[in-house]
Amino acid sequence: MFITFEGIEGTGKSTQIALLKERLEALGKRVLVTLEPGGSRIGAELRRVLLSLENRDLAPQAELFLYLADRSQHVSQVIRPALEAGMVVLSDRFADSTVAYQAYGRGMDPEMLHELNTIAVGGLWPDMTLLLDIDPELGLRRATERNSREGKTVAEGRFEAESMAFHQRVRQGYLAWAARFPERMRVVEASGTPEDIASSISALVESRLHAGV
Ligand code: TYD
Repeated sequence: MFITFEGIEGTGKSTQIALLKERLEALGKRVLVTLEPGGSRIGAELRRVLLSLENRDLAPQAELFLYLADRSQHVSQVIRPALEAGMVVLSDRFADSTVAYQAYGRGMDPEMLHELNTIAVGGLWPDMTLLLDIDPELGLRRATERNSREGKTVAEGRFEAESMAFHQRVRQGYLAWAARFPERMRVVEASGTPEDIASSISALVESRLHAGV
């Protein structure tokens, strides 16, 4: 089973992924946690290029193709082998991030990016995508607090430095995209406590497991 987590910064994706991993392991599953960009060895190099503040001059199309390259490598070297070995794969971001950020955020055509994603994933779409939804004002406040706890500056990466309007567009884009794929994508309200969010997620995932995916 392949589950992806999506959402703007500060939704608590990594906390929720760790909690779901524990829960699934308690049910006897073997779980691989991975992320984009940077889930493969080559992807880690692409991640540095993509997120470094030094690369403010990265052209939007070049950025797009680097995310897609990272994804192709991730699917073929990491995700597909783990699924074939019978593991549950949890990925922090996947194809929908490209639609949300590069299409809705940066202004490219979502349908065109969906086609490019289809090439990048090589037929391997998630069984389930959990979209953690939060107001960007709250999400970015949480991300900023986390960064300062971890000793990073506020504008730690190129995306944290984007405007609030950009993050609003990304959030609305995610919601529009979830409405286009209601079977695969589930919206999880993410302003509550980590425990509340975790129990909504467990309920969704366990009902899918019982349905035999
Ligand atoms: P990261 O530090 O992993 O952020 P987060 O904790 O929010 O996941 O940075 C990943 C950034 O890359 C994030 O701001 C979203 C962006 N991104 C895209 O713009 N397009 C993509 O296809 C992917 C996978 C990520």
